[in-house]
Amino acid sequence: MCGIVGYVGPQDATEVVLQGLRRLEYRGYDSAGIAVVAEGELSSAKKAGKLANLEKVLADRPLPAATVGIGHTRWATHGGPTDRNAHPHVSTGGDVAVVHNGIIENFASLRAECEAAGIEFSSDTDTEVAAHLLTAAYADAPEGEGRLAEAMRAICRRLEGAFTLVATHAAEPDTLVAARRSSPLVVGVGETADGTAEYFLGSDVAAFIGHTRNALELGQDQIVQIDRTAGVTVTDFAGAAVEPTAYTVDWDAAAAEKGGYDWFMLKEIAEQPKAIADTLLGRLGDHGNLILDEVRLSDQELRDIDKIFVVSCGTSFHAGLIAKYAIEHWTRIPVEVEVASEFRYRDPVLDRSTLVIVISQSGETMDTLMALRHAKEQKARVLAICNANGSTIPRESDAVLYTHAGPEIAVASTKAFLSQIVACYLVGLFLAQVRGMKYEDEVAAIVEDLRKLPDAVAQVLTGMDEVRALGRSLADADTVLFLGRHVGFPVALEGALKLKELAYIHAEGFAAGELKHGPIAVIDQGTPVVVIVPSPHSRESVHGKVVSNIQEVRARGARTIVIAEEGDEDVVPYADHLIRVPRTPTLLAPVVTTVPLQVLACEIATTRGLDVDQPRNLAKSVTVE
Ligand code: F6R
Repeated sequence: MCGIVGYVGPQDATEVVLQGLRRLEYRGYDSAGIAVVAEGELSSAKKAGKLANLEKVLADRPLPAATVGIGHTRWATHGGPTDRNAHPHVSTGGDVAVVHNGIIENFASLRAECEAAGIEFSSDTDTEVAAHLLTAAYADAPEGEGRLAEAMRAICRRLEGAFTLVATHAAEPDTLVAARRSSPLVVGVGETADGTAEYFLGSDVAAFIGHTRNALELGQDQIVQIDRTAGVTVTDFAGAAVEPTAYTVDWDAAAAEKGGYDWFMLKEIAEQPKAIADTLLGRLGDHGNLILDEVRLSDQELRDIDKIFVVSCGTSFHAGLIAKYAIEHWTRIPVEVEVASEFRYRDPVLDRSTLVIVISQSGETMDTLMALRHAKEQKARVLAICNANGSTIPRESDAVLYTHAGPEIAVASTKAFLSQIVACYLVGLFLAQVRGMKYEDEVAAIVEDLRKLPDAVAQVLTGMDEVRALGRSLADADTVLFLGRHVGFPVALEGALKLKELAYIHAEGFAAGELKHGPIAVIDQGTPVVVIVPSPHSRESVHGKVVSNIQEVRARGARTIVIAEEGDEDVVPYADHLIRVPRTPTLLAPVVTTVPLQVLACEIATTRGLDVDQPRNLAKSVTVE
């Protein structure tokens, strides 16, 4: 949510910053802007709407060649998505430019203070106060090296809320300074072909992956100063030196390209077999056992767990709902699943023997991060399931299990979701292994079934032409309902969410058994109803119940779209459209049954002429509460 880019080095800063913004646009596309310092002057350009609008402005009025630049792509919070609210925000006098991700919660009192001092504001944002405060703090800071960093430290001590700030000053043509509290920021350290050092700042590594894979992790409440000759200096807000952690990014620029697909989302759907295989890689032992090296909790701590909370948001929350069925079944530990924004503001019963599993693709979702901190304050152990290496959520957790889905650029989550589900299975089986398990024979068999999942998903993907044709026929639907029982229920919720966010069609997911308690009233002649049917071989024996539910909605005029296992003949008489998936054990079935729903939503949206990578009003990595 909001993408930030910075560059210090010998290349043309505008071009490097624009490249970074192109890669970060998925984080917000309400406006974009850029500022550079050249020959003692600060120049900037900004424009509402997608990055392409800014690029047009720059084509007409290029910024001067510069070796220092900052850029921003915005997801609006305070102040509408207009030109005047676009970042960078430049101070009165034009010396300081600031870009910001997060929310400065005490901006109103700071703004009143600035206005009382005669400063006129030119935007409605919370960010602009930072530009004015920084100008004043710079004037007060001792002259010489480190002056801008000193000024940044001074203002950060006054700011409340979450923020990544990057600033540049007209008098400091070789320097960028950035601050980080509860919002993401990474540093890239590279070298041009002739061996000259260059430095990058980014909300995530995608901003500079085309230039370098060497990154530095910044911690909470830290300030980084980047100087063309002195390099990178990190301190805390009080000025004490801090040694940043260096790491190498394990994917390259090609992974963040569309690779011949029209949309990132289509590429990411196609990558799902690999995402699952990579998440399983090295974690399944030869003897039906599980190897999870990154769980840094001792076996005794794991044996002491008597309750689990799974906390996450959106699609990651749906992965948590699926986890409940699997983990409770395999471990017999009670599992509660809750959206992070609710968990964080109530008084959940937690203690040292509670395990809180937080699930986040980005590792930066503010609601989830706050829930994690809430859990830790109460001494619970926290295990993160996360896709973005080195992000804040895994860093603050007691243990981490990375999903290896690779970069997910499309705003709507697909491959990360499937790999999250698989990671949840691994956690459940691992806990069962450490604690001793009730269904020992079943668990050993499940490990073998997990190995088959990448092929099963690949098989589903080969049969999607009919789903796409169905999608085209549904493009004018006003409402679509999704029904499922057991693990099919969270799949129904996910199918509805995908359709809402991509195609802007009203969609709702229901537990199929709940239908008769009210929702069935909305079914009318021709209402599309998607039903996720459990395996007829399932031990949970809900298959027959779901087949009855299909008949009930059909009797009320619904157009039934049935997702059922190969060989399930019971559904045939009641399915207007039948989508087949390979036979899979019930608990693992969401990994295969989700795929047609992703393809369906994507096809409906593209038929309606919509941008499936950047749906309206959304952004990836929601770093505000
Ligand atoms: C929907 C979607 C969102 C995210 C949610 C949590 O397709 O992508 O609902 O799942 O914002 O994000 P992470 O997993 O990054 O914490």
